[in-house]
Amino acid sequence: MERSPIRASLVDEFRTDSRRGLCIGEVSALEIAERFGTPAYVYDARILQRNLVKVRAALGPRVEVLFALKANPSAAVAQVLRRAGAGCEVASAGEIQVAARAGFRGSQIQFAGPGKTALDIASALEMGIDALNVESEGEYELVLAHAPRCQERPRIAIRVNPATSPFGPRLRMSGPSTRFGVDEADVPGLLRRIARDAVCDLRGLHAYAGTQCFDAGAWLQNADHLCDLANRLELELDLALPCLNFGGGLGVSLFAHDSVLDLGNLGAGLRELLERDARPDRRYAVELGRYLAASAGVYLTRVLYAKKSAGRQHLILDGGMHHHAAAAGLGSVIRRPFPIVLARAPHAEPTERYAAGGPLCTPADEFAADIALPTVHPGDLIAVLGSGAYGLTFSPALFLGHPLPCEVLVDDECATIVRERGIPMDALRGQHLPDERGARTLLEPREARDDETT
Ligand SMILES: Cc1ncc(COP(=O)(O)O)c(C=O)c1O
Repeated sequence: MERSPIRASLVDEFRTDSRRGLCIGEVSALEIAERFGTPAYVYDARILQRNLVKVRAALGPRVEVLFALKANPSAAVAQVLRRAGAGCEVASAGEIQVAARAGFRGSQIQFAGPGKTALDIASALEMGIDALNVESEGEYELVLAHAPRCQERPRIAIRVNPATSPFGPRLRMSGPSTRFGVDEADVPGLLRRIARDAVCDLRGLHAYAGTQCFDAGAWLQNADHLCDLANRLELELDLALPCLNFGGGLGVSLFAHDSVLDLGNLGAGLRELLERDARPDRRYAVELGRYLAASAGVYLTRVLYAKKSAGRQHLILDGGMHHHAAAAGLGSVIRRPFPIVLARAPHAEPTERYAAGGPLCTPADEFAADIALPTVHPGDLIAVLGSGAYGLTFSPALFLGHPLPCEVLVDDECATIVRERGIPMDALRGQHLPDERGARTLLEPREARDDETT
């Protein structure tokens, strides 16, 4: 049966041995499952560090690398990347909390997201972040409203929706009409207003074209366009745009027949571009999620049952799309299985074909409709590779009331639990029945019932 080269290259990120099977760091997946239970997300600190080193080496010293926390809002994962030299990009007040817990200072944080609330903006400004990337005039007005309460001038940039953006990323977040950023044609007007108001410290421009871009040329065209635009606007409007953020989106090959991003090429192209930009005073940044985190994470789930239905073999797992929606195809136009291996024998010849899915009462809860694996038995441990980005954070965790999985960080020989496993009572977290004493109503009844007065 055919083996997927993508699966092989993701397995190769990890040590495997014939006795212990798949190891994350120096700890076998079997031992992790034994100690911490399943389902579990497991992250390898060394791979996170390695990915960051690889990207920084390719992009060169002029480019700051921020970790896009949305890819994996584990404070422990973010802390590993911070200690290895990354900054942080956040998308909510909650992510600001996570960034702070991971040890990031305000000056290491940028914020992007099309629907920032007053609370998001207040949290960002109070944290004194490096750049709040404004995505609409309305957002800018909220910044102005909050500014008098800030100790320092708010540092803002404009997220631009470029007028032209080559079709590179698989999922685009820019284009002719979009919720993201300020249309390029409207950027000069907003810049003029920011300059006139003189309330904020204008940092520069930001552009994020979309995720899963495998085409280095297309990614570079977006970066090139942002540099050109910034230089043109500086001249036209007589103002300074000292920081440019080129966004993220570097593609990670997860599926059979995926292309492979040529990081060397992208890095060389970017260095050349910055050379041409000839602005030694300018700061450049990228904000990467998937490229830093995806390959470092494994989702471990046990086979509860194996059964046959109409000639097909089904593996029913203790984990599923409520923890790992991306592996069940959410967010993808075409459903394709993530790289999946049998943890005790990741290199064993596949001999059987299985459908593998979780415990939810929906056919959508399926990681693979037809996957080749060695013979699998109930109790076996399945490892979904490439799960370090957009895993738990992208999943409908409340569906059916199963507890959250635990998260484990492995650094070499040391495996530490970094998110507790949930419990069934979590299904009731924050809930009240209307007649319970703790329940609150928006409009209190005019007269309290007798039995409610104490
Ligand atoms: C504004 C912004 N920046 C960065 C990212 C990270 O993208 P990726 O994980 O593809 O690098 C995203 C992802 O949606 C995003 O929306």
